[in-house]
Amino acid sequence: MSTEPEFRPGLEDIPAAKSAVSFLDGKKARLEYRGIPVEVLAKESCFEEVAWLLIKGDLPSQKQLAEFDHDLRQRRAIHYRLKDLIKCMPADGHPMDALHASVAALGMFYPCKTVADPVKNWDASMRLIAALPTLVTAFARTRRGDEILDPRSDLDHAANFYYMLTGKEPTPATRKVLDACLILHAEHTMNASTFTARVTGSTLASPYQTIASAIGSLSGPLHGGANEEALTQFEEIGGPEKVKSWLDGKRAADPKYKVMGLGHRVYKVKDARATVLQEIAEHAFSESCRPRAYETAIELENYAAGIYGPKGIYPNVDFYSGVVYQSLGIPTDVFTPIFAIARVAGWLAHWTEQLVGNRIFRPEQISIGKTDIAYVPLENRP
Ligand code: COA
Repeated sequence: MSTEPEFRPGLEDIPAAKSAVSFLDGKKARLEYRGIPVEVLAKESCFEEVAWLLIKGDLPSQKQLAEFDHDLRQRRAIHYRLKDLIKCMPADGHPMDALHASVAALGMFYPCKTVADPVKNWDASMRLIAALPTLVTAFARTRRGDEILDPRSDLDHAANFYYMLTGKEPTPATRKVLDACLILHAEHTMNASTFTARVTGSTLASPYQTIASAIGSLSGPLHGGANEEALTQFEEIGGPEKVKSWLDGKRAADPKYKVMGLGHRVYKVKDARATVLQEIAEHAFSESCRPRAYETAIELENYAAGIYGPKGIYPNVDFYSGVVYQSLGIPTDVFTPIFAIARVAGWLAHWTEQLVGNRIFRPEQISIGKTDIAYVPLENRP
């Protein structure tokens, strides 16, 4: 009888950690951060409070939140040489690549020789949360020839990000939408980028390397990159009346064609975050001035439900986030960096949790290659 362990591609259903950071029930579309439903947090909380909740485990007191908020504002600015580095990056490069490189570079200005000191780890966590918007906006501005704007300490996290990106203060409504989007994207159990952060973190690499690795993982079109691809797809379709012929054509050419923004390893119903994002979009656009991309998305959701619904494939978080970001005037390729600005809180929560009793990840493989092959010197090979 074979003793070979069962191989599960994509590690489906295999627990990689015990974690108290969040809870997900994919059949009931239930997502909780430290026990609190994400819909409630998106309405009632702010990103700063959610970041504390995720990392520390409980809601902060008023004093703790005020101090945390103050400490974050102190850590937003980046060194002028890091700005110079960002200015040297190719203007046509992808902002996720720029973010990946600049987070690793940020760590060179604040070296973490060990991760043994919880006080220093907390400091690095705050710096990463605070500086990510600065890094994202520095590249977004400099690549189009605009001056990099310094952060403003009189604005909260979401408002300051919008200001650094656009040069304008957001209206209260825009600030609230952005803040809710950050909350909705802040954490999501053992997804690919969180697993990446855990694997890198398990080697006791620095928090900057840990977060840079996670950013690389998030950039892929099967993960965070799907928000950008989803909007591009709605634009390619060209309008709600073209949805049926577009999808029928794609499926005829490739029966396994993947619609961007649909499907999820865990959710078998519509993602709770997609529902909240759609509510935000409904609120933002009155029926008479709905953008074509949004009308197209609604029609695609409806038509796709008849085809993929029986398989449990419904909109995920990336389906509606792009139309919301577009309505705020955010460039398409900055959508995934916004995901990173939010998810850094979840990554750091998992990293902090894992450092207690850390053990390096070192899974097994099922070897299927040749063995015992004789080495043939180069001159003897044809
Ligand atoms: N459109 C059409 N069919 C899809 C689909 C989609 N977006 N997502 C999954 N499916 C189908 C697959 O073709 C497969 O069908 P089969 O059983 O007939 O072979 C089945 O559903 C399982 O898909 P699989 O790719 O194995 O699921 P997964 O758990 O490995 O992947 C995702 C999950 C999210 C990567 C996948 O759903 C996907 O690629 N979605 C599009 C990208 C996206 O929106 N990513 C953001 C995730 S938040």
